[in-house]
Amino acid sequence: MASGADGRKYRSGTLAPGGVSAAAFSGTRSGPGLAPAFPGGMQMPEESLTITDNRTNITYTVPLHHGTVRAMDLRKIKTGPDDFGLMSYDPAFMNTASCQSAITFIDGDKGILRYRGYPIEVLAERCTFLEVAYLILFGELPTEPELKEWTDKITHHTMIHENTKEFMRGFHHDAHPMGMFISTIAALSTFYPDARNIQSRQVRNHQILRLIGKVPTIAAYAYRHSLGLPYVYPDNDLTYTENFLNMLWKMTELKYEPNPVLARAAEVLFILHADHEQNCSANTMRCVGSSHADPYVSVAAAAAALSGPLHGGANEEVLKMLDEIGSVDRVPEYVEKVKAGHLKLMGFGHRVYKNYDPRARIIKRTAEAVFEVTGRNPKLDIALELEGIALQDEYFVKRKLYPNVDFYSGIIYQALGFSPDMFTVLFAIPRTVGWLAQWQELLEDAEQKIARPRQDFIGHDVREFVALEDRVTKVAPVSD
Ligand SMILES: CC(C)(COP(=O)(O)OP(=O)(O)OC[C@H]1O[C@@H](n2cnc3c(N)ncnc32)[C@H](O)[C@@H]1OP(=O)(O)O)[C@@H](O)C(=O)NCCC(=O)NCCS
Repeated sequence: MASGADGRKYRSGTLAPGGVSAAAFSGTRSGPGLAPAFPGGMQMPEESLTITDNRTNITYTVPLHHGTVRAMDLRKIKTGPDDFGLMSYDPAFMNTASCQSAITFIDGDKGILRYRGYPIEVLAERCTFLEVAYLILFGELPTEPELKEWTDKITHHTMIHENTKEFMRGFHHDAHPMGMFISTIAALSTFYPDARNIQSRQVRNHQILRLIGKVPTIAAYAYRHSLGLPYVYPDNDLTYTENFLNMLWKMTELKYEPNPVLARAAEVLFILHADHEQNCSANTMRCVGSSHADPYVSVAAAAAALSGPLHGGANEEVLKMLDEIGSVDRVPEYVEKVKAGHLKLMGFGHRVYKNYDPRARIIKRTAEAVFEVTGRNPKLDIALELEGIALQDEYFVKRKLYPNVDFYSGIIYQALGFSPDMFTVLFAIPRTVGWLAQWQELLEDAEQKIARPRQDFIGHDVREFVALEDRVTKVAPVSD
């Protein structure tokens, strides 16, 4: 408690990060002539919010920082000493910032995406994936020697232990590649027990090299496994994406010769998918990482979150949807079903983008380059028709539903010869970089603790226990 010049007591709280120099929180009893929240002697925060609790008629001044209030400041709003204090209720984190981050910036209304300040369009045009990975992880674009060293280190971590290969052989022939990917990444934890020392930056960096190096190898092995083909070892003469194509597609030739257009397309797709701030899987990475679990199981958890059809699994659903529509003339009928609420238009809509997803624009261009090599995917015509109708239709316009990154990526992946169940694995490879950057940022943020939301409990108050013989059925039988 601090005393103001008027002699009354004021609650004072924490300083907001970033140096807001102020008594952060104060409460005054307000009457008809509202008492000033920050009377003489106490410094007003640069920006603040005044809240009057109508239950108590007390007025509080809460500091603002970057347009946010600290939820913990609300806790000080109480009806009395026994009151727990006010909480915010925000299912699905619709309006809650869980961290401060300097990695990725999105302006969903304007359709802007930047990694560390650089527009995605420029990075996709001018950089390699590993260059962008370095930028995302370390905050700056690498110099030429830095990039050479970084590439060299990643390249020398692409091999996986032979036991991992054996482990993957154990999967059923029709196992979903994403299930294989998630389990194998988690299994890496058993090979690298040193990874548990998450407090050491050096140890963390070592696991980052391992993970970025090994994810394409695991993804390619999952792909070859589903086709019943022998696994192909990494080729260190090739670039990151060329080597990935080698591990996917090498057959009996002695040396795999990657197609430069396809290798560049893979590079662009990887850059576009590398990070996307606090989405469901990044939040999972941070949540699991906050318990100080090792990075392998944390990445596996993040990949599991990505696999859902409302997140990274959407590109697989887009292809299923295009298959179901079947031809351009059936598009209007399908759109009507969506508008009637029977279906969702997969690859459309986004929690953050309320404008055209900038990644979708770049992917659309990349698709043209890929089709020059592979031949045109007939699904593109259905997709273009869907997009054309949806962008004009009031239902989609009103709700600001635009194509997202998944709308066109699946069409490219299919033209490259992948079946839809492989699409999310292709997304998980580059996103591993984003998850690791979010994890590093979390562990270096002194404000972060184990993630643990509160709940608004709506269940029973304390109940009298009923002995087994006296109970009557109240729950519908569980069907199997
Ligand atoms: C991405 C997604 C989960 C975001 O969901 P969200 O932010 O919770 O948005 P909401 O579900 O609240 O949607 C708002 C409105 O638009 C509608 N809507 C959202 N996405 C839609 C879609 N793809 N098709 C049809 N209607 C959609 C909702 O039904 C809702 O309508 P209502 O206001 O009449 O109830 C959602 O748009 C979606 O499911 N898209 C399809 C899956 C996909 O492509 N995911 C990849 C994301 S990169």
